Amino acid sequence: MSIDRGKLIVFEGGDGAGKGTCFEHVRKNLGDEGFVYTREPGGTDIGKDIRALLLEEEMSPETELLLFFADRAEHMKKKIEPALATGKHVLCDRFTLSTYAYQIAGRERPELEALYRELYAHIVAPHVEPHYIYLDVEPEVGLSRVVGEHGTTKTRFDTESVTFHTRVREAYHKELVCMSEDRYTIIDTGALGAEQAQEAALQVVKRIVEQ
Ligand code: TYD
Repeated sequence: MSIDRGKLIVFEGGDGAGKGTCFEHVRKNLGDEGFVYTREPGGTDIGKDIRALLLEEEMSPETELLLFFADRAEHMKKKIEPALATGKHVLCDRFTLSTYAYQIAGRERPELEALYRELYAHIVAPHVEPHYIYLDVEPEVGLSRVVGEHGTTKTRFDTESVTFHTRVREAYHKELVCMSEDRYTIIDTGALGAEQAQEAALQVVKRIVEQ
């Protein structure tokens, strides 16, 4: 008897959108049975080293894009694919849309889009078709919330300007609306407030896994 493959459900959002708390709320309610919770960057052993480089070191936009995909390639092979193949649902805190939004739009490097699409086609597309839950918030509001989230230090991305984060948000919206409607849900965390946003995220995940 063949096992039904699990689903890949991705949480996305700008910094301070409340993604982390929504993710934890879902995890607390659904538990570990039948689910794998992971994140990018840093979902594997090698990924943890890549994460430290990405969040702390200055580097060229090309290096940054390639390192996010190196982290992802490892993550796909070692964790995401094996879990989906055994029928587990994978909930991932950030995935490819982050790369599109931050490395292409945020960094203002449109010429890297072709490389992004190429890497996506090679590393991601043949294996998974993610469902995206995008937590939306005005960048000004989001950035005011990130203080202290990572202990005393903010990451290289948290400290980018509001204009950078506005480009990130616009890119998320642009890329999402090109997807088929059953592949994404936008949750307006600014309008809903924290608790309602968390509950909305939980209901979306339940609906996706029951489909
Ligand atoms: P993290 O501490 O995980 O932040 P958050 O709680 O906001 O998810 O830091 C990850 C940072 O890496 C985040 O600011 C977004 C950035 N990032 C990219 O720029 N590109 C990517 O492909 C991914 C996965 C993350």
